[in-house]
Amino acid sequence: MSDKKEKFVAIKGMNDILPADAPLWELFENTAESVLKSYGYQKIVTPIVEETGLFARAIGAVTDIVEKEMYSFTDSMNGDQLTLRPEGTAGVVRAVVEHNMAYDGPKRLWYKGPMFRHERPQRGRYRQFFQFGAEAIGFSGPDIDAELIMLCRRLWDDLGLDEIRLELNSIGNAEERQRHRADLIAYFEANMDVLDAEAKRRLHANPLRILDTKNPAMQDLVNAAPKLLDYLGEESLAHFNGLKQILDANNVQYTVNPRLVRGLDYYNRTVFEWVTDALGAQGTVCAGGRYDPLIETFGGKPTPGIGFAMGIERLIELMKAQGEPAEPSQCDVYMVHQGDEARIKAFILAERIRDAGLDVVLHCATPAGAGSFKSQMKKADASGAAFAVILGEDEVANDTVAIKALREADAAAQQNTVAFDEAVDYLVDQIVSGHDHDHGHDHEHVHYHP
Ligand code: HAM
Repeated sequence: MSDKKEKFVAIKGMNDILPADAPLWELFENTAESVLKSYGYQKIVTPIVEETGLFARAIGAVTDIVEKEMYSFTDSMNGDQLTLRPEGTAGVVRAVVEHNMAYDGPKRLWYKGPMFRHERPQRGRYRQFFQFGAEAIGFSGPDIDAELIMLCRRLWDDLGLDEIRLELNSIGNAEERQRHRADLIAYFEANMDVLDAEAKRRLHANPLRILDTKNPAMQDLVNAAPKLLDYLGEESLAHFNGLKQILDANNVQYTVNPRLVRGLDYYNRTVFEWVTDALGAQGTVCAGGRYDPLIETFGGKPTPGIGFAMGIERLIELMKAQGEPAEPSQCDVYMVHQGDEARIKAFILAERIRDAGLDVVLHCATPAGAGSFKSQMKKADASGAAFAVILGEDEVANDTVAIKALREADAAAQQNTVAFDEAVDYLVDQIVSGHDHDHGHDHEHVHYHP
């Protein structure tokens, strides 16, 4: 037997989010949650695992996701066919129908969490990724479409992201798509020699998706193909125009992209994507649309729906590329101590400081030992704390602590001796008043929770 221990690594395409990135994730999630809250959306959490059939029915059997990207497995306990959710809408709609949530009127919902798709990993495309999404159930007019789009814009503004543009389309209703589809198939059949193998396979199952092809040899063909927008009836047109009117009145810039069709089958009428050029090939940071027929296909009463989902990894990348670097600070106060008695007093004081609402890291011994004052002070500096609280033999003897400001330009001069029992008030005073002239970003992670 070999002595060598096997090293494990994470599954390909599934990422660790390390503490260095955690402040940005927190900033994104807190900002997104407060924007959603400011529009009256409520949180919903659904399971990560659902029956496989749920996704096939909601997303469509002839889609990339259902055909080849789902992590599906048989529950070895009972033989159930289960799938790790590839997206959030199917589960939310299942929950809305199961709990009869729309019976007393429409609902505005949001969710966040990991999704799983067995895609080829590359920058911005992962096998486990996080989405932040919203679903508005039971609203039929274009006003809710505009609201969802405008709350995205507010989020980009709040995060300081300005290189995201909006693409918009209407894919009409089932009959309109049916008429377009017949003409589209006839058009492609007349040009069979230009179609690639994938397009030929999709020709009768899902011809709309051919319009989404990246194949350069097919671009002229798809550009000249019959446009779904030209097949919209009066009601669908009125809906689309109503949406554009609200967006125009609110100064929301957009491009109508007649080739925007989306990769999931549940959509009708409004579809949209927020896209950036700053991230390379995977530039869609948020996508969504209306799915009016979906709830009925789950056995619910006919109830319209619309929503979107954002790819959090992509937005974090964009924040890194565009935003100010967030200075991660671990705590407000770092406790430095030397000697057994000092350690006991440091523990007691650290608990009292936390009771007052501040974040405290207490120096603890490592295999290298308890650490000299000097090495502990280095750790205090690296922690990003505003203050080091120091307890040594002298302080224990005099019932005092030394408190050193670590973030002031003249930090060397800023060390004060304070009575042990007054240390908490002193720190709270300093940190609360210090925030008035806080430097930097609005959303900087602030460690004081009054
Ligand atoms: P989707 O377009 O499949 O739509 O995904 C939404 C967003 O999730 C994408 O625009 C992208 O930012 C992110 N995303 C998707 N796949 C990956 C991946 N493999 N790696 C990283 N990020 C990814 C939906 O999921 C719909 N449920 C959206 C929706 C909600 N429509 C109506 N309501």
